[in-house]
Amino acid sequence: MESDKSLLESVEAMRQEIDAADIGSEQEAEAFRVRYLGQKNGLVTNLFKRIREVPPEDRREAGQQLNALRKLAETRLETAREALRDTQSGQQAAIDLTLPGRRPTPPGSVHPLTKTLHDITRIFERLGFTIADGPEIEDDWHNFTALNFPPDHPARDMQDTLFVEASEGGTGGVMLRTHTSPVQIRAMMAGKPPFRLIAPGRVYRNESITYKSYCLFHQVEGLVVDEGVTMADLKHVLYTFAQTYFGDDVTLRFRPSFFPFTEPSAELDIWWPLPDHPQGGRWMEILGSGMVDPNVLEAVGIDSERYTGYAFGMGVERPAMLRYGIDDIRIFYENDVRFLEQF
Ligand code: DAH
Repeated sequence: MESDKSLLESVEAMRQEIDAADIGSEQEAEAFRVRYLGQKNGLVTNLFKRIREVPPEDRREAGQQLNALRKLAETRLETAREALRDTQSGQQAAIDLTLPGRRPTPPGSVHPLTKTLHDITRIFERLGFTIADGPEIEDDWHNFTALNFPPDHPARDMQDTLFVEASEGGTGGVMLRTHTSPVQIRAMMAGKPPFRLIAPGRVYRNESITYKSYCLFHQVEGLVVDEGVTMADLKHVLYTFAQTYFGDDVTLRFRPSFFPFTEPSAELDIWWPLPDHPQGGRWMEILGSGMVDPNVLEAVGIDSERYTGYAFGMGVERPAMLRYGIDDIRIFYENDVRFLEQF
């Protein structure tokens, strides 16, 4: 390929071009290599081919110039590639490993009431109880009458609730269940003794809402019916439960009480130490219990001469509040993440 410039002029022009070339990326570096140093048609490579234009006595000098030009192109290419590698690793080093990590979306946790319900249920499962279930919307018969709350009995007043269908003359109607005790009735109607079951679930009352009462709460009901069941069995199971849940050193009090559906009836209290309290603590009631009243057994068709039974019912909120140091029941239902995150 002839040129109108002499070879040395061409070398000089290309030297300037190579000097001025801008190599800012890996692609540009590769383009530079192909353009000047490419085996087939690289501009520098091609200049070598023009050495025959040069008179023999000047070829040595021209050869040195050409070699210097190729060396220049190679050096520019190598320096540019090194610089590119440096900026890349520089960018990597710019990641500050001391910064706090990005938080993954929290996976959520079990609500403290659900956890308490599970803990209580687990203890009774180990004591051989199975789990029974029933509807939260109940009729008068299951919620009251079969449990020996006669119509107009004042005990009904203690469990005022929200009606789905109004009652007439103090009985009948459909309501949100006030306790889990109707599950006893449903279980006994559906099967034959022996029974050994618990019924965990949600219950409702028409209560004024304060730090210690709410319109809904949770209970775990227990029922055992068999031949020869006594109050000693009841006491043993309740003490075992309380000592497992609150610890072996808990102080317990089993005292007489009244429920329409048990006779005799008793409540279990635990002594809760409070350093700032004048008495150093106070008794907290945690459950109601008793021997199943013969009227209840007869209402569900069980021979009360042959079978006896005991029952108990406990709230879930109270033990959860004691165990986790919660002083306002309403916080369980507010879904405040700052509260829930602590569990
Ligand atoms: N149902 C009672 C209530 O809600 C609690 C209760 C007391 C349940 C004694 C029982 C029991 O099974 O035997 O106040």
